[in-house]
Amino acid sequence: MSKNFDVIVIGGGPGGYIAAIRAGQLGFSTACIDEWKDSKGGPAPGGTCTNVGCIPSKALLQSSEHFDHARHQFAAHGIQAQGLGIDVAKMLDRKDRIVRQNNEGILYLFKKNKVTFFHGRGSFAKAIDGGYEIRVAGASEQTITGTNVIVATGSTARALPGVDFDEKLVLSNDGALRMPTVPDKLGVIGSGVIGLEMGSVWRRLGSDVTVLEALPAFLGAADEQIAKEALKAFTKQGLKIEFGITVGAVQASPEGVQVDYTDAKGGARTLAFDRLIVSIGRVPNTTGLNAEAVGLRLDERGAIAVDDECRTNLPGVWAVGDVVRGPMLAHKAEEEGVAVAERIAGQHPHVDFNTVPWVIYTSPEIAWVGQTEQQLKAAGRSYRSGTFPFLANGRARALGDTTGLAKVIADAQTDEILGVHIVGPFASELIAEAVVAMEFKASAEDIARICHAHPSLSEATKEAALAVDKRSLNF
Ligand code: FAD
Ligand code: NAI
Repeated sequence: MSKNFDVIVIGGGPGGYIAAIRAGQLGFSTACIDEWKDSKGGPAPGGTCTNVGCIPSKALLQSSEHFDHARHQFAAHGIQAQGLGIDVAKMLDRKDRIVRQNNEGILYLFKKNKVTFFHGRGSFAKAIDGGYEIRVAGASEQTITGTNVIVATGSTARALPGVDFDEKLVLSNDGALRMPTVPDKLGVIGSGVIGLEMGSVWRRLGSDVTVLEALPAFLGAADEQIAKEALKAFTKQGLKIEFGITVGAVQASPEGVQVDYTDAKGGARTLAFDRLIVSIGRVPNTTGLNAEAVGLRLDERGAIAVDDECRTNLPGVWAVGDVVRGPMLAHKAEEEGVAVAERIAGQHPHVDFNTVPWVIYTSPEIAWVGQTEQQLKAAGRSYRSGTFPFLANGRARALGDTTGLAKVIADAQTDEILGVHIVGPFASELIAEAVVAMEFKASAEDIARICHAHPSLSEATKEAALAVDKRSLNF
């Protein structure tokens, strides 16, 4: 007799494990199946985010930033540091321990919330009366049945056509997070989020990094003014980015990786690197799900087709996170996971993509929520905007990091905040205030009138809100 559950979640990344926890909290008998293995073959729930994404990348960004500060910024504070070196193995070991803590934390949370965990691959066997039969292959081999199924199988790195990842020379995010030595010359294809974050890590540790980007412009999804400011800062740091290129042949050999490409002017060019990171986007992952067995519909991109509420074409089957439309972000996956569990319980939650924040954890950090100026222009919406540079912020001066600015965009008539864009120190933390403001439909004047602690970086957001009405106090 197979075990029966109210809710079976396939995939234990931020979309899946959070959905399972919420379903457990709501009193459903819940199973979560995840196939990720740690280095010893044991379970490693948490998905891309925990194992080869958000968490390890932030660990390496922190380590490399400390190193960069010690090399370039300590002296200004009167701190003398001689004989600085980087022990890459130790840095990677620290990152791996942080990942492990997160894996174990999730297993603990499953126990706490009475979620039954199965380590292995989950696939649809067949539809049954009032639910689905799910086969678990791997360590926890068996068949289970569930009334509701939440698919949260995530995404995988997109490869260049004909260029497989070997994770030694040609690297996806996985290999980029575990290079055993600092390459002298590092190539990166794609100046998106991974290219910038991983390019920054290895540049700070000493690599000569060149990023090759197909599009003519930088960070198209960000506000143009913010992207321009960020590009200026990255260029000053020594990150080389070439735009408008077309990648040709890529050849990996024991000597390294040779990349032939056409530059923006149509010239044939070749660059040789010790290693190459390919970060040209990610593709939804439905491998091994056996979606055909039950007729689960995919869209033209290979993502599971869902409506606004994450319902698939099948009754009782839902899908969340990277495997469906929308931004590929851990917090978006989590919000969808919670919302689906609550919908199964008959509740009416809502996930608003317009208030999902974006953060790029480079230095300076880049963060935004809501609309960009170019989007508002294209939509013909009248707006007012205000900016404030960190150069004029006392806390930023004390930190020794005055790069960047905060920008608030508000509706010209109602003053409702339409977007907030920040490039500068701790933008990742500052953006939360803007998200809260937008969720509460605040006006720029609301932020301008709220008392912000002094000295704090958040005063830059307040000043940008004041600047919407052309009444900055400190600039
Ligand atoms: P995933 O995290 O991909 O999890 C899917 C899980 O399902 C995996 O464990 C997989 O093994 C498992 N699985 C797949 N198929 C099956 C099956 N048939 N049976 C059982 N298990 C299965 N986002 C942010 O918001 N902030 C960041 O800072 C950030 N940094 C990132 C850095 C990098 C280098 C990368 C690559 C991504 C980063 N992301 C970040 C994106 C984030 O990782 C994803 O948006 C997020 O992990 C998506 O969650 P998910 O649950 O949909 O899928
Ligand atoms: P991306 O979509 O952010 O950027 C890909 C870049 O590669 C784009 O600029 C694109 O124009 C370029 N590109 C595409 N094909 C190309 C080609 N053939 N040659 C040259 N350039 C090409 O994708 P990325 O960086 O791989 O990251 C995937 C996703 O992971 C992100 O979109 C994001 O959703 C998520 N992520 C989020 C992070 C965060 O929130 N801090 C950190 C890292 C990843």
